[in-house]
Amino acid sequence: MAILDWKEPFTIVSEAAGELNIDAYLIGGYVRDLFLHRPSKDIDIVAVGSGIKLAQAVSAKMGRGTKLTVFKNFGTAQVKSRQWELEFVGARKESYTRDSRKPVVENGTLEDDQNRRDFTINAIALCLNRNHYGELIDPFDGLRDMDNLTIRTPLDPDITFSDDPLRMMRAVRFASQLGFFIDPDTFDAIERNRERIGIVSKERIVDELNKIILSPRPSVGFELLELSGLLPLIFPELSALKGVETKEGIGHKDNFAHTLMVLDRLSRHTDNVWLRWSALFHDIGKPATKRWDNRLGWTFHNHNFIGERMLPGIFRKMKLPMNEKMKYVQKMVNLHMRPIVLSDDEVTDSAIRRLLFDAGDDIDDLMLLCEADITSKNPEKVKRFLNNFRLVRRKLIEIEEKDRIRNFQPPVTGEEIMSLFGLPPSRPVGVLKEAIKNAILDGVIPNEYEAAHAFMMRKAEQMGLFSTRPDEPPN
Ligand code: CTP
Repeated sequence: MAILDWKEPFTIVSEAAGELNIDAYLIGGYVRDLFLHRPSKDIDIVAVGSGIKLAQAVSAKMGRGTKLTVFKNFGTAQVKSRQWELEFVGARKESYTRDSRKPVVENGTLEDDQNRRDFTINAIALCLNRNHYGELIDPFDGLRDMDNLTIRTPLDPDITFSDDPLRMMRAVRFASQLGFFIDPDTFDAIERNRERIGIVSKERIVDELNKIILSPRPSVGFELLELSGLLPLIFPELSALKGVETKEGIGHKDNFAHTLMVLDRLSRHTDNVWLRWSALFHDIGKPATKRWDNRLGWTFHNHNFIGERMLPGIFRKMKLPMNEKMKYVQKMVNLHMRPIVLSDDEVTDSAIRRLLFDAGDDIDDLMLLCEADITSKNPEKVKRFLNNFRLVRRKLIEIEEKDRIRNFQPPVTGEEIMSLFGLPPSRPVGVLKEAIKNAILDGVIPNEYEAAHAFMMRKAEQMGLFSTRPDEPPN
């Protein structure tokens, strides 16, 4: 059976191309994904002639509810309907200068256009014209590479990567996302051209990193970034986790390998990209806190706090969003040791309440991260930790049902304290609120208004906050 059915919107493009006497081809990711049986929504069409004219004709034929956007400067156009998103471009020949990703563009043939594409699997064209409908134009054996799961550039890889260094990230991303291998010559060229990544915008790099992180086994992508030498250039803090130091015969674990193992293990349970980023960052503070102690061996004291504090600088530099997403990752990094410490000690109710209070609604995500963090090779140790985690999870449910700490709202508000004692916003108000919160978390009083009120009155008296006795009527 032909790979391409006669179906909308291709029939419409075919008709319009016939009327305009233009050759039109499907190309790029849509064709690749058709062969890989992956869903794909972006449809790229290359016209030998004016892509904009073809787009205008297609948009007119599709009629109402279709939106045409023309990017005159780029010679491209987009047609968007409720179901489809079609990108049109005229076949082109491009030449690049060394310090920019912006090419000088001239009209070209289909072959010129295929030559300038990134990988053989993205350069396969399918004809849309009536007489040759569905015919494959595959000058670089993209289909063979698809069968062999190979990422390879159509031209000399030094040219392809030097033209557009973002493609080095794309090669790694496709390998990780599709489970492909990078052809050795192509890979060597990434190593040689790695410094050229410097001209690529941070936003584009983060786009690709996000796709690597969301791939089924993200370690594949990060190992390739490290092997090719790209990682120290785009994410030096992650690269710095690599390596093992040994002293007096004692080595610590390789925190890069460990981090990737945690990320892969976590990825089996969640597609939450920010939780996956949290796995990447969870031990980021280890190199900065590593010490040798004659009694304890290698230590990484407070690496969770230091890691949390490093994040704003890293987020700013990498152009990751400095908003509530970063706060969430900071919280995960800060708290990632807590459930493990809990399982070492006794799992007390107040420790569980404090964990619930600090993690809030993100407690389930935190538990997933902590479980993924158990990468020990000692089966006894793993069993003990996982059993303890089960206990922690059970207690979390019990305590939450009883005390509702997860979205803790103080039972007595600051306003109430101020009006009761005639106080302006001031330190004693904060002290009282904190005392009530701690009493609830420590299990001294239940999380209820009456008990909190009575506790507050006792505490206020100790603090000498009553100018008159509370039961005396004011003057
Ligand atoms: N392309 C390229 N070089 C780039 C980006 C894109 O040669 N740096 C070409 C490739 O032929 C690619 C097509 O443009 O297939 C479309 O690019 P894009 O939509 O960015 O990527 P897809 O390959 O469709 O993959 P994805 O949607 O997963 O990003």
